[in-house]
Amino acid sequence: MKLGLSDEERMVQETAREFADSEIAPVAANNDAEGRFPADIVKKLAELGFMGMLIPEKYGGAGLGNFCLVLALEEINRVCASTGVTMSVHNSLATSPIIKFGSDYLKETYLPKLATSEMLGAYALSEAEAGSDAASLKCRAVKDGDEYVVNGTKLWVTTGAHADLFIVMLRTDTEKRSKGISAFVVERDTPGFKVGKKENKLGLRGSSTTELIFEDCRLPAKNLIGEEGIGFVIAMATLDGGRIGIGTQAVGIAQACLDASVAYAKEREQFGRKIGEFQAIQWKIADMATAIEASRLMVYRAARMRDMDVPHTKEAAMAKLFASEAANRAAREAVQIHGGAGYLKDFPVERYFRDARITELYEGTSEVQRIVISRSYLQA
Ligand code: CAA
Repeated sequence: MKLGLSDEERMVQETAREFADSEIAPVAANNDAEGRFPADIVKKLAELGFMGMLIPEKYGGAGLGNFCLVLALEEINRVCASTGVTMSVHNSLATSPIIKFGSDYLKETYLPKLATSEMLGAYALSEAEAGSDAASLKCRAVKDGDEYVVNGTKLWVTTGAHADLFIVMLRTDTEKRSKGISAFVVERDTPGFKVGKKENKLGLRGSSTTELIFEDCRLPAKNLIGEEGIGFVIAMATLDGGRIGIGTQAVGIAQACLDASVAYAKEREQFGRKIGEFQAIQWKIADMATAIEASRLMVYRAARMRDMDVPHTKEAAMAKLFASEAANRAAREAVQIHGGAGYLKDFPVERYFRDARITELYEGTSEVQRIVISRSYLQA
């Protein structure tokens, strides 16, 4: 079914699908087992234009928009969620704050390098005491002439070990809460800045998650994004896009669970029959497939709304919430359909099961998405 895709959108989807199947799928399990970051694949994704999908053509990007990003991200995540999150964070969390809120200087300096992945991007909001309560962050930036002096530690930064550019939310005013936060671009080799501990994770083992440490790090004032005090709004508006990306990641993982389950159900025999002939398995497949279709439509709608520049905070939160919970149910059922085999590293559903879990946690937990959604009704 065409689902109303334009020729360009269809081409993006097919290119991503072919690349995912031919270049990523064969190495995904090994990268996961060895905790290997897919730097070579990221380079090839950049050659296809997939690392600068939202960056306008005048800065060397593909200028394609969020809907095309979603189409490509689903295909990449279907075979490897570690590669998928690297691509999603780079495109949505790292480039969009500069595209939407950055000065001409920031756009001209960084967007061309982000578009080619000569600079790989990351996003740093969370801290040890500021996870879901992001506005309570303490990492401090103090103005000193035409520089800011930064001290503090950021946590759980996706691509931290490999990124060259970090979008970092810092406190510039201790008297205010969310309005005391400002957003900055930080280059990896800035003196006083270093990448700290690399986390050892349940899933997404091919992506890196690290802490970032600032010790009297001096940032040029021109690296401030927008103006002082709007950093929290930038962070949240950026996460509206990031959450569509994670919802899409969930769709990709869930689709992989369904594909593996269907193949196994058609092949595995018990009690003298293919297990797909049992209603117990048929109903699981039906429920998985239905939830995936609904999730896909939700991320499509949110992406289209973001491209139209209409408010989409609620729709992005709904898409992430629904798709991530559907992906976790799909992963659980995929392991169940595989029985004991599903618990082994020999079959991919074990990796999907581990990778799915994070979609309910990062870029805002399911509980945070429910706060965002319910507020849009109760505080409207
Ligand atoms: N767009 C624009 N502005 C927004 C906004 C949005 N989506 N959401 C909030 N704002 C604005 C509000 O309008 C408000 O401005 P005013 O004061 O002028 O009205 C301001 O921001 C403060 O908003 P809230 O009062 O809603 O703030 P809050 O403290 O109540 O927090 C929250 C709300 C939804 C819980 C928020 O803190 C949140 O989303 N928390 C989760 C954080 C998160 O997702 N972290 C993930 C980090 S990234 C990651 O996972 C790692 C990775 O690399 C992948």
